[in-house]
Amino acid sequence: MTYIDFDEEADVAETTQAMQDAAREVVVETALGALDLDAKTRLLAGQDVWSLPALPEAGLASLVMSDGPIGVRGVHWSADDPSVALPSPTALAATWDPGLAHRAGVLLAQEARRKGVHVLLAPTVNLHRSPLGGRHFEAYSEDPYLTGRIGTEYVRGVQSGGVGTTVKHFVANDAETDRLTVNNLVGERALRELYLAPFEAIVENAHPWGIMTAYNSVNGPTMTEHHHLVNEVLRGAWGFDGVNVSDWTAARSTTGALAGGLDIAMPGPGTVFGEALARAVRDGEADEALVDEAVRRVLRLAARVGVLDGAEPVVTDPPDAVDGEALAREIARRSFVLVRNDNGALPLRPGRVALIGAAARDARVLGGGSATVFPARVVSPLDGLTAALPDGTLTYTLGADPNTELPVADRGFELRAVCRDATGQVLGARSAPSGHLQWTGSDLPEGVTHENLHSVELTGSFTPRESGTHTFGIKGLGPFRLTVAGTTYYDGVQRPAGDDPFLTFFGPPVPHAGVELTAGEPVEVSLTYTVPPAGDHPLRVIGFTLAHQDPQQDADERIAEAAEAARAADTAVVVVATTDRVESEGFDRTDLRLPGRQDDLVRAVAAANPNTVVVVNSGSPVELPWRDDVAAVLLSWFPGQEGGAALADVLTGAHEPGGRLPTTWGSLTDAPVTQVVPENGELPYAEGVFIGYRAWEKHGRSPAYPFGHGLGYTDWTYDSVEVAEAAGTTTAKVRLRNTGDRPGREVVQLYLAPADPDPTRPARWLAGFASVEAAPGDGAEATVELPRRAFEIWDEATGSWSFVKGSYEIQVGRSITDRRITATINV
Ligand code: BGC
Repeated sequence: MTYIDFDEEADVAETTQAMQDAAREVVVETALGALDLDAKTRLLAGQDVWSLPALPEAGLASLVMSDGPIGVRGVHWSADDPSVALPSPTALAATWDPGLAHRAGVLLAQEARRKGVHVLLAPTVNLHRSPLGGRHFEAYSEDPYLTGRIGTEYVRGVQSGGVGTTVKHFVANDAETDRLTVNNLVGERALRELYLAPFEAIVENAHPWGIMTAYNSVNGPTMTEHHHLVNEVLRGAWGFDGVNVSDWTAARSTTGALAGGLDIAMPGPGTVFGEALARAVRDGEADEALVDEAVRRVLRLAARVGVLDGAEPVVTDPPDAVDGEALAREIARRSFVLVRNDNGALPLRPGRVALIGAAARDARVLGGGSATVFPARVVSPLDGLTAALPDGTLTYTLGADPNTELPVADRGFELRAVCRDATGQVLGARSAPSGHLQWTGSDLPEGVTHENLHSVELTGSFTPRESGTHTFGIKGLGPFRLTVAGTTYYDGVQRPAGDDPFLTFFGPPVPHAGVELTAGEPVEVSLTYTVPPAGDHPLRVIGFTLAHQDPQQDADERIAEAAEAARAADTAVVVVATTDRVESEGFDRTDLRLPGRQDDLVRAVAAANPNTVVVVNSGSPVELPWRDDVAAVLLSWFPGQEGGAALADVLTGAHEPGGRLPTTWGSLTDAPVTQVVPENGELPYAEGVFIGYRAWEKHGRSPAYPFGHGLGYTDWTYDSVEVAEAAGTTTAKVRLRNTGDRPGREVVQLYLAPADPDPTRPARWLAGFASVEAAPGDGAEATVELPRRAFEIWDEATGSWSFVKGSYEIQVGRSITDRRITATINV
């Protein structure tokens, strides 16, 4: 399934890389020879949350890893060293532009180098199996081919900057419910044709230096011990020569993980490798040859990224510097999907604009969980439109609050975390990016250790934007004291429960104080957490949240105010959003509704002004029950730090929205695959190969917006498709024309449909795509090579790929349902 290369230079670079790999192997062997058993097993375990130990006897420096995928957070949960925040992976996939993914990768490598990070824990290439998956914003698509194409160039981009990747989470981590223990039962065809396919494509086309094995089990074994999928498939059949790192705390057995092909158990220091592995070897329970294999792979990675003495890193001359803000803005506007544009509502016509919605002011630019980074700035839609529209033409109204519980204290807060010992002596301090504090393992301020740390005080000021009763609350476990403006409102112990260590961060906050405050007048705020004695969990985490909510006005009044503002304007732009209680790591969604009263808000605004444009700020599908009653709907995903500027670019028409749906948007009632909750620890992927559009078509259901759909600001006609076959390669040449009145860019999509329907295969599937640009009236030509894999199925009887001969229609168009021209081929 070799793809058309994005860049021939990349091929040359890969060949050179292969030759250099051989030279590095020699250095790797020498380094391996310098290590005794204890050193070797130490190297296979994190020395802390993000790094491996340095081994000076082998000339090895410490190898540092960091999340991923939309930025590089670095080793601290802190805003002291901010990171560029790119749009969510769903947004990157919505560009359908592997070249842009490559450039994102180059930027991320630059960020990683700046932060001393050698390996980026990304990309996430699990599939959107069900729309309920809580972490879909962090994955690309429901389609394995699109996921593979985007993921391939992302990896190539990062690695072209000399930084490693860990393609994750291998494999079938497609939902979050019971993710640490669930046994996903996936049929062999679905596994090969869907879930493994992006990993396979990336291994073949981008040669990633790492992979991350998932928490979950697949058909029995847990993924960190999956001999078959790791040793036989990934390494054996596919020839993966990189390192296999566990997801954080996923490795649970010393001998099982070693035999299952795991190389690095993260995080440390307490892991199943390290001393436990040395002991197992000495006791004759683990094979030292396997330890050597794993160490070899870690040393190879170290050599590639340049932390092994004597080995030339893969990249000695990093690519030219990338302007992160400019790229974040470009990706965002190229990712926005205009799913509806009635009567040319967009671009905005001159006139008064009523901007409405909490997320228009407090933009949600990224999804929650380990993918969080702290950007130096965030451009909200309000900021972006204020800068772009003529003075005096923009009004802002909140409309509805999407938060159904107290959000993290953020806007208006300036906080520091002060650490003290048992005597009250200050040990150290660090600035806090928000009211959410999350220090994992040794990620503690200078001078602080888990041994001497007794309490953490989040302290600073809060300047209200509004006068009225402000609510303060706490999320977290243990003893807390909350003081606002000199009054202590809470001094007690909070005790929720849960198995997943990350649940500590994901439970709802408890409100403890209602405080009358005046807009613009700062007050002192303090939340002190007394650290409980260490339990026996190997991973020490200091995590808690100061939560805050602005004064709550009557919800109906707020909506009425927004409708009033809309009535007085020429256009109403409503930004609706999900929250981090809807889309985040660690849990799935239970419905696809917009939280709070946002649906009511849109209905009221649309009733007041027919020229209503809705911007949907979510990382993955939500239901839009009012979609046919508004003039335009623009999906902006989690648009990254420059989202508001990009939004202004697109709304004003300075740029057209470039995105196409990487995943089907429809209602939960119609969605064909909705089971994400395991029963008795097992989650059967009973739908087989029918997920996403494959399933919608099979069930004959019409989604709100189909896969591939997205409008620009011009029109296209599809004139012809010619198909040629040479040396076993099928190539389609598509001619089309820009028939509108402005320049545009079109994503030409090719679907392959067997002429004789076969109930075991989808009706059609994405087999290729390409983008073209043309001026008004001009023609354009797209040449798309169809990979051999597009014609193959996994034959469960023989355990191999089987080319299915016969007659196929190549259907070319603008989405899975908007197919404009076809050609028939016999293969
Ligand atoms: C996530 C990974 C992430 C790791 C480290 C895990 O909870 O599943 O994607 O890389 O944490 O933050």
